[in-house]
Amino acid sequence: MALRIAAFGLTAAALSLTLLAPALAQAEGDAANGRKLAYTCHGCHGIPDYKNAYPNYSVPKLGGQHAEYIIAALNEYEAKARWHPTMQGLATTLSAQDKADIAAFFQDEVVVSSGETTGVAPAAAQTCAACHGPDGVGILPEYPVIAGQHGDYIERALKDYRSGKRQNAIMSGFAGQLADADIAALAAYFSAQKGLRTPAKR
Ligand code: HEC
Ligand code: HEC
Repeated sequence: MALRIAAFGLTAAALSLTLLAPALAQAEGDAANGRKLAYTCHGCHGIPDYKNAYPNYSVPKLGGQHAEYIIAALNEYEAKARWHPTMQGLATTLSAQDKADIAAFFQDEVVVSSGETTGVAPAAAQTCAACHGPDGVGILPEYPVIAGQHGDYIERALKDYRSGKRQNAIMSGFAGQLADADIAALAAYFSAQKGLRTPAKR
């Protein structure tokens, strides 16, 4: 009896290992495969200062962005919590594993705080620092790096949160309190921040 229980315990352990393995692989993300999958993305994200038409604003930079945030963003396009026909269409074609792989590729380089800020922070930036850090690098992986992002994209994002075009409970609350002048000042400040770019630890 004791033997049978032990044997059962072993099988159960082996089974849970097999079940766990794919989940772990998925969380990891395969940057090499992500590089292949990201081929279609470079047509817009890989061209410096490429602009979206109607409305006209810069396509966001993805290099160095937190992997967790990239996955969340792709899921939000798929769920239509974010607008953009091409991004919504592309996101629906990607599996969870594809998204993790692509995110790992774009995070080949990570942006960490340099401990320094550039220029004078507008008063409104104090609130933002709690999550995005004083220099916009994002203190947790779910808080996007906004340091060095295109200013006109940051401005567009804040206005979209404010109007509800882009849905996010946290950001719509903060953006809702901002006047156009605050948004312009915040976009100018955070786009000017540098952060330190370092190769990702693997
Ligand atoms: C036709 C141009 C185009 C192509 C191709 C494209 N994107 Fe985008 N992408 C955009 C634009 C424009 C935005 C900003 C849309 C918005 O305002 O939400 C964006 C936003 C994003 C975001 C959110 C960034 C952020 O800071 O929130 C991610 C992540 C992203 N794209 C990933 C991808 C991936 C992965 C691919 C390839 C599978 C891809 N994109 C292909 C134009 C494109
Ligand atoms: C409580 C934490 C928190 C605070 C405070 C906060 N943010 Fe955010 N911010 C987030 C999260 C989480 C997201 C990602 C939301 C999403 O998925 O759309 C985000 C997204 C953004 C984006 C979009 C980035 C992109 O790549 O599309 C911008 C721009 C931004 N925040 C600017 C600000 C500014 C400016 C302030 C201060 C007025 C601020 N945030 C305050 C948590 C925060």
